[in-house]
Amino acid sequence: VDHLLGIKYLNEKDIELIFKTADHFKEVINRPIKKVPSLRDITIANLFFENSTRTRLSFELAEKRLSADVVNFSAASSSVKKGETLIDTVNNILSMKVDMVVMRHPNPGAGIFLSRHVKASIINAGDGAHEHPTQALLDSYSIRERLGEVAGKKVVIVGDILHSRVALSNIFALKLQGAEVKVCGPKTLLPKHIESLGVSVETDLKKALEWCDVANMLRVQNERMDISYFPSTREYAQQFQLNKRMLESLNKEIVIMHPGPINRGVEITSDVADAENAIILDQVQNGVAVRMAVIYLLASKINR
Ligand code: CP
Repeated sequence: VDHLLGIKYLNEKDIELIFKTADHFKEVINRPIKKVPSLRDITIANLFFENSTRTRLSFELAEKRLSADVVNFSAASSSVKKGETLIDTVNNILSMKVDMVVMRHPNPGAGIFLSRHVKASIINAGDGAHEHPTQALLDSYSIRERLGEVAGKKVVIVGDILHSRVALSNIFALKLQGAEVKVCGPKTLLPKHIESLGVSVETDLKKALEWCDVANMLRVQNERMDISYFPSTREYAQQFQLNKRMLESLNKEIVIMHPGPINRGVEITSDVADAENAIILDQVQNGVAVRMAVIYLLASKINR
């Protein structure tokens, strides 16, 4: 069975194929009838063990626009609360003739673990602080759409790199496509040895922004920290916030990205998040076409 567990397991050709397929689906979802009948014979379960707005709705829309049957599962209102294990939960769902599982889970490696124990195609919709592969794919797709290509572009990922699955998947995806990648944030939120992934490190936001073509602004993930971190939210905003004053001090335009959800007034101010060169809602829109492509390509490998 084939899965999408992380960008780590893809190569450049896989990404090219996903993007070419997404180009087709982007055209489809801009038609008056936004659906194709391709996956009428497939059933997909969306399993969310952690909160989500964009990813959950985007996967569900992608599945419905491919004409798949869809069931949604939220751990908070399920028998997980009565002590049922992950494998039992998924095997019970699969016994109802489900072909594919999209899963978000707070534990790093949850999708990898599941893929070894159940007979279904698994798509990782975010596993703890590990990977969020479809987010990285839609991010690169959006850079390609805005700037023509990803190769050779300078991308800085700003913020809480330590707890960010978006950062790790983006680093893998951007490097595969030949972009230059820098990470920028307070030392306390940068993983040790991050340079071993082929990225450079900058702790001065202005210098990082002067260098880049694209800035991907991340949220500080307080929910993944069991102690209060340094710097405080106020200190973080003072040193790492992307605001109008900072943008105007650069002698160029940069593309601004954010995976969402935004903490307005912390990592980015509202005027910047809503500016013309911010492609934050384009990222969300592209997520549907990119996820349609991923699901379609994986479904083509299911025996049916
Ligand atoms: N970008 C992202 O994963 O958002 P959600 O947590 O709302 O799905």
